[in-house]
Amino acid sequence: MNITENNGIFIIETENTQYVLSPDEAGRLRHIHWGKKCKRESFVLPAKRGEPNSNHTSLDEMGTEFIPYGSTCYRVPALKVEYSDGCREALLKYKDYKITEKDGKALLEVFLEDEAYSLSVTLGYAVRENFDIIERFVKVKNNSDKNVLIEKIASAEFTLPSKRPYLSTNFNGAWGSEFRREETEVKNGTLIYETHKGTSEHTYSPCFILSQDATEKSGEVYFGALAWTGSYKVEINRDYSGVTRAVIGLSDFDFSYILHADEEFVTPSVYCGYACSLGQMSNEMNAFAVENILPRRYAKEPLPVLYNSWEATFFDVSTEGQQLLAKKAADIGCELFVMDDGWFGQRKDDHAGLGDWYVNDVKFPEGLGPLVDTVKKLGMKFGLWFEPEMVNPDSDLYRTHPEWAYHFDKRTPSELRNQLVLNLTLPEVREYVFNCMDSLVTKYGIDYIKWDANRPFSESGAENLENPRECRLRHIRAVYEIADLLKEKHPDLQIEACASGGGRAELGALSHFDMIWTSDNTDPVDRLDIQNGYSLLYPIKCMRAWVTDTNRHSRPSDWDYRFNVSMQGSLSIGGNLLKYTDEELEIHRKYIALYKEIRNTVQFGRFYRLADFRNDGIYATEYTDENKTVLFVCKSVNSFFAKRNYRVFLDGLEKDAEYKVTYGMDERVYFGDYLMNVGLNFDMGGTLESELVIFEKA
Ligand code: GLA
Repeated sequence: MNITENNGIFIIETENTQYVLSPDEAGRLRHIHWGKKCKRESFVLPAKRGEPNSNHTSLDEMGTEFIPYGSTCYRVPALKVEYSDGCREALLKYKDYKITEKDGKALLEVFLEDEAYSLSVTLGYAVRENFDIIERFVKVKNNSDKNVLIEKIASAEFTLPSKRPYLSTNFNGAWGSEFRREETEVKNGTLIYETHKGTSEHTYSPCFILSQDATEKSGEVYFGALAWTGSYKVEINRDYSGVTRAVIGLSDFDFSYILHADEEFVTPSVYCGYACSLGQMSNEMNAFAVENILPRRYAKEPLPVLYNSWEATFFDVSTEGQQLLAKKAADIGCELFVMDDGWFGQRKDDHAGLGDWYVNDVKFPEGLGPLVDTVKKLGMKFGLWFEPEMVNPDSDLYRTHPEWAYHFDKRTPSELRNQLVLNLTLPEVREYVFNCMDSLVTKYGIDYIKWDANRPFSESGAENLENPRECRLRHIRAVYEIADLLKEKHPDLQIEACASGGGRAELGALSHFDMIWTSDNTDPVDRLDIQNGYSLLYPIKCMRAWVTDTNRHSRPSDWDYRFNVSMQGSLSIGGNLLKYTDEELEIHRKYIALYKEIRNTVQFGRFYRLADFRNDGIYATEYTDENKTVLFVCKSVNSFFAKRNYRVFLDGLEKDAEYKVTYGMDERVYFGDYLMNVGLNFDMGGTLESELVIFEKA
């Protein structure tokens, strides 16, 4: 880790990569290099550039670090402002820089300024010891006495080195089908991944992954993931000269921000890197998130095996019913019992009750006390479901405060799942939501909150704001604020981010919440695809994965299969334990105990996507650390075309070390090189077969 300045050239170095930038003779901050390391003295100041012709400009062609709209820049800008005198262009010039180092983190701040309007822009680049990830963010400060209107502000702009087209990987998902990987070649024009919904959502992820010839083990990959739970925009453009650029940050759709005199605006961070394979990218991001992004309290602790009541009881919760489930859950080894939706207000189904965060006294005549006591006496922690940002029109809250939901006076608010979004930009709404949650957490000693959000914004009027176009931004800031305040007041509280399944699986949520509900789809075969996509950039330990009764698509799978899929993340149980036979409960007991033995390796080890359905007909994942190596192999459907013998080559092992099989295959000792070069054979002639093999390292 190192950041240096030499003759006006800034060189940012991580363990294995280098990022180089420098102001040019005109004071523009130019991009010089991103990728493998070169000798520092090789870099020279960026060349002066003439105009190519009267229609294509040097500003459009040069590599820059944060180009504003203005002058002869016509390409995708990183910043667009309007000044109070009507000038709608910014002109940023390099002023100065500062390099600081503290607690294993080095930070370069490059100060730019639009002198005519006293607007200063600081580009931040932070690196941490032992990691190949660079954190980038931008601060804009208005040093004038007039307002400045920000119409677009990205967190970073990137210029990629090769003129060959890159392959962009993102997702094409929806509710129940999050993280379906999709590759698009960026040949010409602009590829945009964006949401206007006000919250990050299921379709794409706020990230870019741009690769050439990339596999799990080889190639070149440039990537960046935005830590933001709201509307975002990722623009990837390849211009007429073959240069690919990416601009990533807040969405500018129906957005602007009034920057008052003396005010500073800080963008969300983007975590970016260069890797020599997709596997390397994922491992870098996985380890980095654990070490530097997740809320500190639980970042390095393995997550407990949780039981969640949703699929067992849906809205039909009661003291007795939940107590019965809790006893079974504790008996099979669960460590945390979460009661999902249905416990509050007049909640019988999804038509009523959201916003009324008091305990339903028909379902829980003595409050939650008896249930919480049972759960705690059984040695488990207790968790509760909330959907804090929402309100049902059929609720006491809405009847008292209809004006607390976002609305336009002359429009009928559109309901989705019979609910509306609360205007969290109103201080009294934030206070109400916080107080409701805080008082329940305090009263019952709640250890865990599942924070859900089941619809995007609509009719997003917020007349309380000087500039209502700030409402989506301010809403997400309020979500973070409430979550942070809860954690501050209850330091041991864990919070799970959920949004109709995996609608909030991104690094913004993971900066404030401890884990993620990845998808409402608990079908194990679908789930493997979802987990594969998620694992590209997001931390394995945060990926909650339930074993349930779900046998969607008439594709019944056995318990081994379901466990072998869910144990690849943070194992959780979500089925109706009351219906299970003793034999089925014993299977649960066995796997939960087994998971506790391997979870350190799964949640914190290096991991490898060894095979996937698309390319190999089977799915294989390996997790490995100093003590253990865990291998999961899952087959989907069998057909006459399908082979029955599959060979899996392990990865990342020490070639001379001995690995002893302790579970799943005949006991035998293998050398690392054998497992990696000769591999293991799996004879799987049927449909939905799976294997789990555990090795202890000698
Ligand atoms: C969403 C969540 C589910 C469950 C329900 C409850 O759909 O994704 O896990 O909590 O809400 O209504």
